[in-house]
Amino acid sequence: MKYVIGVDLGTSSVKVLLVDQNGVVHHSVSKDYPLMQQQPGYSEQNPETWVEQTIKALKMLVNETNVHPNHIKGLSFSGQMHGLVLLDEHHQVIRNAILWNDTRTTAQCQKIDQQLGGKLLEITKNPALEGFTLPKLLWIKEFEPENLEKTSVFLLPKDYLRYRLTRAIHIDYSDAAGTLLLDVVNKSWSTDILRTFGIPVSICPPLVETEDVVGTLLPEIAEMTGLSQDIKVFAGGADNACGAIGAGILSEGTALCSIGTSGVFLSYEDDKNKNYAGKVHLFNHGQKDSYYSMGVTLGAGYSLTWFKETFAKEQSFTDLLEEASYSSIGANGLMFTPYLVGERTPYADAKIRGTFTGIDGSHKLADFTRAVIEGIVYSICESLDIFRNYGKVIDTVISIGGGAKSDLWAQIQADVFNTKVVKLQNEQGPGMGAAMIAATGLGWFSSLKDCAKVFIKADKVYQPKRVNVERYQAFYQVYKDVYPHTASIHHQLFDLRK
Ligand code: XUL
Repeated sequence: MKYVIGVDLGTSSVKVLLVDQNGVVHHSVSKDYPLMQQQPGYSEQNPETWVEQTIKALKMLVNETNVHPNHIKGLSFSGQMHGLVLLDEHHQVIRNAILWNDTRTTAQCQKIDQQLGGKLLEITKNPALEGFTLPKLLWIKEFEPENLEKTSVFLLPKDYLRYRLTRAIHIDYSDAAGTLLLDVVNKSWSTDILRTFGIPVSICPPLVETEDVVGTLLPEIAEMTGLSQDIKVFAGGADNACGAIGAGILSEGTALCSIGTSGVFLSYEDDKNKNYAGKVHLFNHGQKDSYYSMGVTLGAGYSLTWFKETFAKEQSFTDLLEEASYSSIGANGLMFTPYLVGERTPYADAKIRGTFTGIDGSHKLADFTRAVIEGIVYSICESLDIFRNYGKVIDTVISIGGGAKSDLWAQIQADVFNTKVVKLQNEQGPGMGAAMIAATGLGWFSSLKDCAKVFIKADKVYQPKRVNVERYQAFYQVYKDVYPHTASIHHQLFDLRK
């Protein structure tokens, strides 16, 4: 039997998966790293921690299985999107990476809008949003010009990790699409956008396909991890593209709800010119020459983790979710909005913050927990609504990530979305997509779709329950009222914090 490794470089941890030719996961290891939030709206990481923790995780993966390293034939990546890593002429990291959930760049987004107008949407298929990479480059240009001068190339997180493992510098199209510098349809760096902002094209890394081989492991990395030096390394893709691959979202009519640190509602797009007026993102998929669109809740799993760490540190996530089942639909009148780090879809608002609304003296931990998981689903449903408003029929949703790990949370998705929700066997999130890229790149399958037929199997289906759907529709209407009624209060509070 032969094996591949999928490396998922997430926001809070890196997870490595050992998968065989039948798609069976033999072992997985996860290693955490910290997030630095020096000021409200800031979110950074030290890229060195990604490398250190990935090497440790790979070493543990090799040590803890009885699979011979020579049988592990390929490795690929999934990575948190948009994060900016700057390298100098010696390819040393110049400063901490600025991440996708960093929202310091509102002024730079306004500048992009003023200077490019409608051209931005035409070329990149996306509006200027704080999380994307171009606004971060412009922030560096304005506040740390010396760092931009030193820059010989910029990379995204998984591309930097791959560089450290192979010495090869590349970016794949699915991640390049999230920079706001890619001509998404023509698959080239946009000289028009680069010229407008005085960014030299020389700092943009070479573009490759997700399934391209970019090299093999460096001898010292092979030695440190115990992996074979001959293992083929494939470019890999953005975490949402890989999440979609790992859930079989590879043809029109399929949709995904992913709850990781962020929450995503994602739909496959056949039509690269599909126009949602920039209300949801449109990116190149990890499957060659295809696309997906999606809306993003910035603080999805992040909200539950924050809640647990702050109010129920001793409890496990499983116990906490079990507790939520003792509350009722609508959390006994308690409502949560998950805007802990601002929001992306449908309100691109860096200053909005979260709320618990309707707190009553009778509310218990169970109600608060339930309000948090319901609030996350309501927020993701606002993205789903955009697709529906543009005429897309969505009746089945594949659920991955935290939201698929609990029956209660999966049923809440079915009831709030009013769709069937499908949980997968052996669900591993974007890491499985990365493993599938390696398996297909190695030629084990003729396409990702063929690989999906073997690797992906449905497990449980959650049908929407009519009575629940009606109850949730009433609560969801109230949820949608919270943003417009609290936005101005939160903007004032945000400004007063400084
Ligand atoms: C997508 C986005 C997030 C990150 C999470 O636009 O910003 O989903 O990819 O890693």
